[in-house]
Amino acid sequence: MTRTVYVNGVYLPETEATVSIFDRGFLMADGVYEVTSVLDGKLIDFEGHAVRLQRSLDELEMQAACSKDELLEIHRELVKRNDIVEGLVYLQITRGSDGDRDFVFPSADTKPTIVLFTQNKPNLADNPAAKKGAKIISIEDIRWGRRDIKTVQLLYPSMGKMMAKKAGCDDAWLIEDGHVTEGTSNNAYFVKDGTIVTRPLSTDILHGITRKAVLRMAAEAQLKIEERLFTIDEAKEADEAFTTSASAFVMPVVEIDGVQLGDGTPGPIAKRLREIYLDESRKAAV
Ligand code: PDD
Repeated sequence: MTRTVYVNGVYLPETEATVSIFDRGFLMADGVYEVTSVLDGKLIDFEGHAVRLQRSLDELEMQAACSKDELLEIHRELVKRNDIVEGLVYLQITRGSDGDRDFVFPSADTKPTIVLFTQNKPNLADNPAAKKGAKIISIEDIRWGRRDIKTVQLLYPSMGKMMAKKAGCDDAWLIEDGHVTEGTSNNAYFVKDGTIVTRPLSTDILHGITRKAVLRMAAEAQLKIEERLFTIDEAKEADEAFTTSASAFVMPVVEIDGVQLGDGTPGPIAKRLREIYLDESRKAAV
């Protein structure tokens, strides 16, 4: 199926969509992005993603390509035109191009490039992987120091996923100075004696939109939460573990570096949080 995508103000077939070879997103990874999930044809936590996008743009002194209302309209229009019931909307804004390659930012009147496309994922909520749980490996975190900005510099996360795949696993958690930062494309948690432990927000990790919602829901469900640094050894000795992201919601983790957690099946808290998150998010979807 040929998707309808959005590029710089125009809806068009994906086969006709083009961006300049001088675009700074392409040459310098000078761009930011958001991934918003779709359930029942509606957007999950659009507001959270729009606010984080603006923060990423501000941190990089990059222009917003359009207003929040326009962004919502484009998201909805793409979901409608592509008949997405369950799936994702990918949005990317780059600093654009002034027709050459230069390390120095182009002049302030250079138009940003904005691209949006949908991904159809019929089993996003009823994901078989979530019933099995994920096996993860730990690897060193060698990314740059501003992981709170959601940039398109995704080479190392891609390499981390490939290292996991080669090891017969599903994903990797990243370690810096002896502590887990986050997953390659998700935030990381473990549960011990009923307490959920996750790293506090800083420039070291992405401020996950799903993280914020899940921690709020966990608190409402009277679950204990500790935001603190933790080691991979603590996680290996945990009762259960999980990750959160817009593309996988709450994903149980059943193995870390070959060590089985609990009985090797998704833990009760991860399963419950996944259910609560899906339920609440569907109700609040726009
Ligand atoms: N990744 N940490 C990293 C490094 C991420 O790339 C992501 C999201 C998250 C979770 O953030 P959120 O809950 O807002 O999705 C944490 C997206 C899904 C991606 O790159 O596809």
